Amino acid sequence: MTTVSIDVKALESAHVLQTYRRLPVIFDRGEGVRLFDVDGRAYLDFVSGIGVASLGHAHPALTRAIADQAAALVQVSNLYFHPLQGELATRLSSLTGLERAFFCNSGTEAVEACLKFARRYWFTAGAKGRTKFVAFTHSFHGRTMGALSTTWDDHYRAPFQPLVPGVTFVSPDDPSTLDAAVDDQTAAIIVEPIQGEGGVRPISPAVVNAIARAVQRTGTLVIADEVQSGSWRTGRFLHSQTAGLAPDLVSLGKALGGGVPIGAAMVSAKIAPAISPGDHGTTYGGNLLACRAALTFLDVMNDAQVASLQRASDHLFLGLRALADRRRDVVVDVRGVGLLAGVEFRADAGPVVQAAMDRGLLVNRTSGTVLRLLPPYIVSERDVDDALSTIDAAVDAAFPGGAA
Ligand SMILES: Cc1ncc(COP(=O)(O)O)c(C=O)c1O
Repeated sequence: MTTVSIDVKALESAHVLQTYRRLPVIFDRGEGVRLFDVDGRAYLDFVSGIGVASLGHAHPALTRAIADQAAALVQVSNLYFHPLQGELATRLSSLTGLERAFFCNSGTEAVEACLKFARRYWFTAGAKGRTKFVAFTHSFHGRTMGALSTTWDDHYRAPFQPLVPGVTFVSPDDPSTLDAAVDDQTAAIIVEPIQGEGGVRPISPAVVNAIARAVQRTGTLVIADEVQSGSWRTGRFLHSQTAGLAPDLVSLGKALGGGVPIGAAMVSAKIAPAISPGDHGTTYGGNLLACRAALTFLDVMNDAQVASLQRASDHLFLGLRALADRRRDVVVDVRGVGLLAGVEFRADAGPVVQAAMDRGLLVNRTSGTVLRLLPPYIVSERDVDDALSTIDAAVDAAFPGGAA
């Protein structure tokens, strides 16, 4: 068990709402792929703020850009123009092939905006009853009432019913159910090109084909939730581009701001004209600080940086597959693309997370039995080697004689 010299419970105090279970470590500094706790102990960070610190911690270019922007101007609201929103929207439009961007402050808000814009499209088209959504089992799209309505896990949903009506969940393992679920009252299919929280499950070609069939048959819109899989995480700007999905709307967040909160709903040329002033909005969305951070992130992600990400990814998956071969008694599967990797165990992955942390590596568990790795894009092959040897040791410590 990791010990810290500060009483975590006292610090947490009686006044932070208990919506999170936290691990007993307190961080107050980061540099590159490493975080440092208050006792000065270094941890290799393969969580990166759940896929957010894409350039690692205290990246010099991002740090300078944030400081410069904070010294100039942080926020003016969306009542006025500023120089950075249009520039960022143009860059994102050319990276995604989608015409326009709506800026917000988180992934959930980006999903929420996509759901609303899909309904708005059909409303404007005169198809006012076309309000339903089709989502997938194991999906995670956020926890506001709209996004939650398309999030699958009953643990998140049950206490908050009734949610937005008209959402049907289909299994990605049985694409034929999609054919049955999508009809001419379906506003949109919402899909994660790689399910992140659901256990690092990349979309299959069969699901991509089933979605294309449903679009052909009913004209339904497609929302790709790329909050976790997008923004270069997989080596392409969007994983939809690799998977062969052609979304009308895309939600972005997490890695895009390198740690500064920003979300974006990207909207196709077909949908954009249906949206009117006042249909959606946010006070902070697209402020100068967030836009500057995202522009800096995009600048850093040049061809050389993307190639380096890809090399680190190849190295990571080679090592994880070797682990799977060595410990077939406990490892069920290795999945993922780019720097979104999952190792599924036959048992709870929690003990591996703890054993890795004890050895100075941060990883996390998702979907109970899956160890998820989301390292920053600046990770080197040497960092990957360090992480792999720690994961090997952590797996052996957690499952000395195979899973129970
Ligand atoms: C695919 C996906 N969509 C939406 C969200 C919600 O994003 P946020 O936590 O930034 O609101 C997440 C967060 O994990 C996600 O993975």
